[in-house]
Amino acid sequence: MFIVPAIRLALPDDAAGIARMSREFIEDGLDWSWRRERVLRAMADPAVNVVVAHDGRTLTGFGIMEYGDLHAHLALLAVAPPYRQRRVGSRLVAWLEQPARIAGLEKVRLEARADNPGALLFYRRLGFEATGRAAGYYGGEIDAVRFEKSLRLG
Ligand SMILES: CC(C)(COP(=O)(O)OP(=O)(O)OC[C@H]1O[C@@H](n2cnc3c(N)ncnc32)[C@H](O)[C@@H]1OP(=O)(O)O)[C@@H](O)C(=O)NCCC(=O)NCCS
Repeated sequence: MFIVPAIRLALPDDAAGIARMSREFIEDGLDWSWRRERVLRAMADPAVNVVVAHDGRTLTGFGIMEYGDLHAHLALLAVAPPYRQRRVGSRLVAWLEQPARIAGLEKVRLEARADNPGALLFYRRLGFEATGRAAGYYGGEIDAVRFEKSLRLG
């Protein structure tokens, strides 16, 4: 049975699971930069939200958003494979965008691995537009596609 996971702010006990998911699903083939300590630092940063999707037993997904004066930056996002294509990713992004909208920020920006067609389609479905490509953005080897979405109406 699929239990719809709740979205909530991450707790320190979630940090190790978030770091593992980052290594496995995002930093695959790269140096592991988002280790537990870095996730904990992000949680403690007042300009960052770290959220998880949790069904009570399992960490099913997470997202990390940094908020600046004008723009927000989606630093990391992943959903565990059994929970994909069930709108968990969409709900995580919507949760993280909400404070940016309330604060009147103009845009959300992000980079996605150019070798991850599923993620590129996902972000397009969520209304992000590709704005360019950054050669070797990941470890000097893998290109990134840069995306942004306006948070302003009209
Ligand atoms: C990308 C990812 C976060 C998507 O999460 P998800 O929970 O499966 O996405 P959702 O169910 O909310 O999908 C929203 C829309 O995107 C589409 N989509 C999601 N993954 C897709 C894929 N792999 N291929 C094509 N479309 C996809 C869905 O079909 C849905 O479209 P719809 O509105 O027409 O129904 C997830 O696949 C993932 O964690 N991948 C590995 C890590 C990663 O790539 N992170 C992002 C880059 S940092």
